[in-house]
Amino acid sequence: MDTSGAQEYDRLQELKTFDETKAGVKGLVDSGLQKIPKIFVRPAEELAKDLNYKKAQIEVPVIDLGDLEKTHRHKQIVEEVRIASETWGFFRVVNHGISLNVLDEMLDAIQKFNEQDVDEKKKYYTRDNMRRVRFNSNFDLFASRTASWRDSLAISFLDPDQINSDDLPAICRKSVIEYSKLVNNLGNILFGLLSEALGLQPEYLRKMDCSDGHLFTCNYYPACPEPDLTLGITKHSDLGFLTILLQNQIDGLQIFFQNQWVDVQPIRGALVINIGDLLQLVSNGKFTSNKHRVVANRLGPRISIACFFSGPINMDKVFYGPIKELISEENPPVYKEVLLSDYMAKAFTVGVDENFLVNYCKG
Ligand code: OGA
Ligand code: NI
Repeated sequence: MDTSGAQEYDRLQELKTFDETKAGVKGLVDSGLQKIPKIFVRPAEELAKDLNYKKAQIEVPVIDLGDLEKTHRHKQIVEEVRIASETWGFFRVVNHGISLNVLDEMLDAIQKFNEQDVDEKKKYYTRDNMRRVRFNSNFDLFASRTASWRDSLAISFLDPDQINSDDLPAICRKSVIEYSKLVNNLGNILFGLLSEALGLQPEYLRKMDCSDGHLFTCNYYPACPEPDLTLGITKHSDLGFLTILLQNQIDGLQIFFQNQWVDVQPIRGALVINIGDLLQLVSNGKFTSNKHRVVANRLGPRISIACFFSGPINMDKVFYGPIKELISEENPPVYKEVLLSDYMAKAFTVGVDENFLVNYCKG
C-alpha cells in the first residue's frame, strides 16, 4: 500500500475542508482551538534548523525623507537609499508625507474588514486571481508545503483611478482609496530616489513603468496558540520592483541578513520599504531583494498592508531585463530578460518560493 499517497490525500482533504469554511485562520481561532491544525505545522527538520540561527541585535536603517527638496539633504538621502538597497534591500522611512492619521485609519479599516460578520467577509472569498478584490487564507494554500497563519485581502489597482470603488468592501472603502493615492505618490518619489541611487536620471525607473499600478495585500495574522510551530509568512523575497509595508504595533516581520534573523520592530508612523526581485533583476544585481518572513505571535492580531509595485501587469509584451546603462564588460548581465506576464503567471503557480529569481531568471 502506498502510505505516502494516503497521507498526501489526507492533507489535501484537510486543506479543502479548511478552505471551504471561507472563514480563514481567524475562523479557527474564533472556534476556540488550542492546538493548531496539522496543515499549519512546519516539518520537524525545518523547525530544528531554525534553532541554529542567532538573533541579531542590529537594526534596519531608518531614512528621514523630510527636507528631500533641499539639495544637500537630497544627495544624502540618495546615498542612504543606495547603501540600504545594496546591502539590506530594506529600509524604513519616516517623514514620508503620509500622516499618522491616514496610516491608523487604514490599519483600523483592515482590522474591521477581518472582524466583521463572517458571512459578509465570505462574499469576497475567492482563489480567482482575475478578480480585483480577493479575500482568502494563503493564496498558495494548495501549492505550499505548510500553510501559514494568516488571512489576506488582496486588491489590485491597475492604475490609481481605475478601481471601481463599488467593488471595494464598504467597511474599508474610504480608507483604502485614500491610502492608495498617497502610497502611490510615495512610490513615485521612491522610484525617483532609487533611479538616482543607481546613477540614472530620476525619471528612469518611472519611465520603465515600474510604478504603474500596484497591488495591496492586507494581511491579518490572528494571535496563535502555538506560535513556535508555524509561521505567518514563510521565507521569501517579494516578486515585484518595490514594496511599501505598513504594519501595526505587533512584532513579527524578520529579515534574513548576514545569516541571522533580524526583527523589524514596528515604529509608529514609519513605513518599511523593500527591494523586490524585479528591481534586483533590472539593476543587474546591484540592489538586493532580501529574504524575509513573518513569525507567528501569541499576541494579535498583527496587521500589515503590503503595497507591491510590480509593473503594468495587465499589458502583454512587457519585457524586463538588466538596464543597459548598468551593463559593461566588467559587469555582464547576470539575469536574462523576462516577459512580465510569464514571470507573474509562473510566480503565482509556484507560490511562495525563496529561490524564485535564481530558479527562473538567471542569465
Ligand atoms: C509580504 C510580506 C510582511 C508582513 O506580504 O510579502 O512580506 O509584515 N509581508 O506582513
Ligand atoms: Ni514579502
